[in-house]
Amino acid sequence: MGNTAESIQPKKNPTRGLFKVSPYMVIPSRVGGFSLYLKQGDSLVLYADKGELFTEQHKARLGKLEVDHLYIKAEDYSHYASYLHDNLEEVLDDEAIPVKERARAWNDATVSLAKQAFDRTLPKPMNKKRFTMIRKLINSSLKFLARDDAMRELARFIKDGHELFNHGIGVMVLTVSVMNTYVKDDADLLVAVGMGAILHDIGKLELPEDLFARRWSSLSLSEQDLIRSHPALGVGVCSSLPLPQETLHCILFHHERVDGTGYPSGGTGEMLPSYVRVLSLCNEYDNLVRGAGKVLTPFEALTRIKSQRTAHDPEMLKRLIAILSKAEMT
Ligand SMILES: [Fe+2]
Ligand SMILES: [Fe+2]
Repeated sequence: MGNTAESIQPKKNPTRGLFKVSPYMVIPSRVGGFSLYLKQGDSLVLYADKGELFTEQHKARLGKLEVDHLYIKAEDYSHYASYLHDNLEEVLDDEAIPVKERARAWNDATVSLAKQAFDRTLPKPMNKKRFTMIRKLINSSLKFLARDDAMRELARFIKDGHELFNHGIGVMVLTVSVMNTYVKDDADLLVAVGMGAILHDIGKLELPEDLFARRWSSLSLSEQDLIRSHPALGVGVCSSLPLPQETLHCILFHHERVDGTGYPSGGTGEMLPSYVRVLSLCNEYDNLVRGAGKVLTPFEALTRIKSQRTAHDPEMLKRLIAILSKAEMT
């Protein structure tokens, strides 16, 4: 514990370069591969050292001190992320932890993983290890994502960020939530579609980044064709992974429309599996409320989607609207 009180960075801003960690993430009988610090006045004091076993006393003492946050150093963040992954299911199921803190843990775990899967600087961002971790994460999340109160808390986190991985997470949460309203007892399907939703735009990594930042009307026909190739490229990126068929369908068909105006197949209505119809709708919605350019409010985005009339499945649109209003996102 911090009895030895190793003090670091006693200057004006002691929390610079540090990440906040919820005290609820100190789980007795677990070992953190990261050092935890407490803020005391203008100083940080070591609370638990790297490799130290967390105990009931650690937890009780935090309660007594009424600590809102602990801190970890940036260099330890990847260790914290793997600790979160290892313990996520338990944290999400723990009714003693406020839903708000569980939502924060879920967001931290998901962002750290999705960020790597979409990292252009890594030689192979989507490998078997990451794929297995994403599958495990979605599996552990299903029960939590089905709760209305969890959605309300998660809504705060998932609306932020313009990067591909933020979009993947936002689309995944909405898609799984819509499916939760009509899929019963088919966790395998929900996990497969959840993976497809988080990875649906992975093929964009194969194309120049600036292509997607430009307005559609400023692109030449061959550039437009390149953009249209990203679903097929995504399937190629994932070809060495043991992906379920539904995940591949999600990646390949996320730009289809029920009236046949989408791509690459131009399939219509019932030809598209219901999960593809949900994903294509949630993808369009998230693109309208996110993105680097002009961003619409949720109300404007839904109005725009409704005005397209035949493009999306009206039943799924109704379900999406109900979820957004329950989560207070409209
Ligand atoms: Fe896409
Ligand atoms: Fe997308």
